Amino acid sequence: MMEFVTELRSLEPVPTGDLIIDPLPNVLLHRSTWGEATAAEFQVQLRQPNRLAIDRLESQLTALAPQGGSLSIQQRSIRFSLVIPTYEEAENIEPLVRSLVAVLDRLLPNDYEIIVVDDNSIDHTWKIAQALTVEFPQLRVLCRHYEQGLATAVIRGWQVAKGEILGVIDGDGQHDEQILPEMIAQIMAGADLVAASRNDPGGGISEWSIWRRFTSRGAQIFGLAILPEVVGKVSDPLSGYFVLKRQAIAQKNLNPLGYKILIEVLAKGRFARVKTVPYEFRERQSGETKVTWYHAIDYLAHLLRLRLDRFPLQRFWRFGIVGLSGVLVDMAVLYALSDPSTLAWGLTRSKIIAAEVAIFNNFWWNDRWTFSDLSKRQTGFRRRLERFLKFNLICLMGLILNVLILNLLFNVVFAGQHRYLANLIAIGLVTFWNFWLNTKLNWRVTDRDRAELT
Ligand code: GDD
Ligand code: MN
Repeated sequence: MMEFVTELRSLEPVPTGDLIIDPLPNVLLHRSTWGEATAAEFQVQLRQPNRLAIDRLESQLTALAPQGGSLSIQQRSIRFSLVIPTYEEAENIEPLVRSLVAVLDRLLPNDYEIIVVDDNSIDHTWKIAQALTVEFPQLRVLCRHYEQGLATAVIRGWQVAKGEILGVIDGDGQHDEQILPEMIAQIMAGADLVAASRNDPGGGISEWSIWRRFTSRGAQIFGLAILPEVVGKVSDPLSGYFVLKRQAIAQKNLNPLGYKILIEVLAKGRFARVKTVPYEFRERQSGETKVTWYHAIDYLAHLLRLRLDRFPLQRFWRFGIVGLSGVLVDMAVLYALSDPSTLAWGLTRSKIIAAEVAIFNNFWWNDRWTFSDLSKRQTGFRRRLERFLKFNLICLMGLILNVLILNLLFNVVFAGQHRYLANLIAIGLVTFWNFWLNTKLNWRVTDRDRAELT
């Protein structure tokens, strides 16, 4: 599949299927020389670049090289690909492209591209962008007909991108393009992701209504409550303006909902170093925001989906099964100690022993099965004893919580009815509590473990 550099770039084919970004930029530069002068140069586009395909291409092209000519194939990626998602931005797209070109021509001459991904805007934003490709060959335009939504538009753009560094900026001029050099410089200095932040010192929002500021802050706090380990990574997790290293999200199955592409990327990617650069979020020059209350629903659903994605379901099942075995052990010991037909000991004394034996049983199986991968990294008897004592404490707190919830449900919510339903709900909630606390405080790999293991 060969393509010569043309004047007016045609609309690019829109990728389909999973929202997965290739690790390797998929462009090779073929150069053949006779003597000094370069005689020909053209680009070859490979859908799935791998060594085999490149070798096959190399042999095909060697056959093309005239006798005595030399052939060199350089895997050529470009430094930076910036995606602009657009919907109804006819007035804004040209001034934005011009100011971006002015910034990037200075920073990365011939080493960047701008990719407009338009969702078939009624105002023909895509056509205006396409017309600009005559003047700016580094500009590429995709027009989607069968998909809608800001976040997926960005990923489709990244899928066709050739850059080692990927970026996204809004198409309405509200994001300040002058901070791009600083953001890219931080990537070059080793950061994996750099987000433009309105919440850093020196950052801000020009003229948002009190209501929009409140909802935006509220959304951020809500996100911190549900997904602290992701949303807490940056000071402006709702920012739609950021750059990142391609390899940090390559081959990750991205699956965003609605607007919040940064949260999806932070949740699915591998980012050792995340940085922010402050900026002032500007007023739109023309057109309207496309944000509706519907996007708030999308945001909540997106957060919950990421939370569930990260919820260790398989481990929770094991924890539940071990918990059930504990109930059986508890019952058996209670019977063996307190039943009139056996030792007929007092109920409370028997119950305490039964509960402790059940806790020991649960600890045993959780340490060797549910959390075996983690307990293996916390070696030695002393560490195991520590875990057992913590497990005991957590179960004890769980027991108290169980009694509290049971009484609240039975006496208040169900008004003295449904004692067994109340007990079941209490057991379910406390199982979650025990699991969550044990995952957070007990079976987790700390820096101390890592240090001891190395
Ligand atoms: N392709 C495509 N499809 N683009 C879209 C769509 C869509 O369905 N919806 C919006 N866009 C484009 C707009 O044309 C604009 O270029 C950009 O996405 C942002 O949309 P706005 O509607 O202007 O969003 P906003 O200004 O209210 O909010 C922006 O800034 C916030 C603060 O950074 C967004 O980027 C938010 O995600 C961000 O939180
Ligand atoms: Mn906007």
